[in-house]
Parts: sequence; structure tokens; C-alpha cells
Amino acid sequence: MGTTTVKLFLMALAIFCGAAIATDPDMLQDVCVADLASDIKVNGFPCKATFNATDFSSGALAKPGLTNNTMGSLVTPANVQQIPGLNTLGVSLSRIDYAPGGLNPPHTHPRATEIVFVLEGQLDVGFMTTANVLVSKTIKQGEIFVFPKGLVHFQKNSGMGQAAVIAAFNSQLPGTQSIAAMLFASKPSVADDVLAKAFQIDYYEVEEIRKKLTPK
Ligand SMILES: *[C@@H]1O[C@H](CO)[C@@H](O)[C@H](O)[C@H]1NC(C)=O
Ligand SMILES: *[C@@H]1O[C@H](CO)[C@@H](O)[C@H](O)[C@H]1NC(C)=O
Repeated sequence: MGTTTVKLFLMALAIFCGAAIATDPDMLQDVCVADLASDIKVNGFPCKATFNATDFSSGALAKPGLTNNTMGSLVTPANVQQIPGLNTLGVSLSRIDYAPGGLNPPHTHPRATEIVFVLEGQLDVGFMTTANVLVSKTIKQGEIFVFPKGLVHFQKNSGMGQAAVIAAFNSQLPGTQSIAAMLFASKPSVADDVLAKAFQIDYYEVEEIRKKLTPK
């Protein structure tokens, strides 16, 4: 093969491999209903010996979640931890409810792209690229918005009443890192000097934020 052919081949291989690992790994059998109680640790969960329709269903998203909390929003998950049948299938859902002014604060899903569909109300939503560009929009009932895998994003209820969305993910367990809580309410704590320097604030300000974000 000439050098150009080799280069093209390597490029194609890189693209193919990239595509193959861009989401949860593909399944190797019809079903692998998660045995959530197993002590065995694998990438995902080991399969239960017996299962039935209950393992593939959930009523978790049927009713609005309570939004009377500090942020005025609640995420109700429907992933492999609630629906064991999702194990190895590479998809999951959430429902998010928002009080008027409620915020689902900036966070990231390390393992999934998210697509939200507005059930009711109006939301200001956005994500930030790695070049620190904000991509944002107001979306209303019946509309859709996409948050690319791994990018930090948020949604805020900007309507007069309650708002709610259904969120879909291309992972059985997308994972969530909420930026403020992750930095200021981790256990053990991130050192004050790290946060003070990173945010260009004083130590007492770090403590103030910590106090407000640490769950009581
Ligand atoms: C499925 O099995 C569980 C016990 O493992 C049982 O409680 C449940 O009623 C069964 N559901 C159906 C739909 O058969
Ligand atoms: C939210 O409302 C529910 C039901 O109305 C109540 O049980 C709960 O204690 C409230 N939570 C807070 C944090 O106020």
C-alpha cells in the first residue's frame, strides 16, 4: 500500500472506532435484566436468571415531581436503576418538573447525549461548548432541544406556570455531575484555596457557598 492509502485506512479505522465507542456498548444477547443486588461488578450489571414484564416497565414518570425545593426543580429518573430491563440496551428517560422560576442547575452527563421534549410550559435552555460558546434558546410545549454528550447545560422555567419535560438519553445510566454541588459540596471537600483561586473569591465566600449547597 502507498503512504496515502495507509493514511486513508488509518483515518477510516479511527472514525469507525470512534463511532463504535460513542455510546453504551452494544448488547450480545436479547436481554440482560439487571441484577441490581449482585455483588459482582461488571461494566453495567450482571443478568438476572429470571425476569418478567415488570422488569421492563415503570410508572415513575406518570406524575409530576415535587418542586418545592431550593432550585425549584426535580429530576425523576427512569434509568437502569429503576428499570432493570434497560441493562445493556443503551437508552433511558427522565422527567423534569419545574416550579415557576425553577432551575435545573448547570450539570453534565458524562455518558450520554440528552434530547428533551417539553410536556408543558416554557423554558430557557442552553449548553456551553468547549470553546465557551453558549448555545441557548427558549422552548415551549411540544418543542425539542438537544444537549450534546458531556457538555454542561441547564434549563430554567421562564413561563408563568409549572413546566415539565421528558428527557431521553443514549445510555442506560447517563450519570450526572452538577457543577456547583460537585465543586462546593463534595465529600471530602475540595480545598478552600483551590476554589478561592479558581473562582477568584475569598475563603469566606467559599464557605458561604458551601453552606448553602451542602444538603441538610
Ligand atoms: C414478576 O415477578 C415478580 C417477582 O419476581 C412478581 O412480584 C411480579 O408480580 C411479576 N410480574 C408479572 C407481570 O408477572
Ligand atoms: C414539599 O411538599 C410536600 C407535599 O406537599 C411535603 O410533604 C414536603 O415536606 C415539602 N418539602 C419541602 C422541602 O418543603
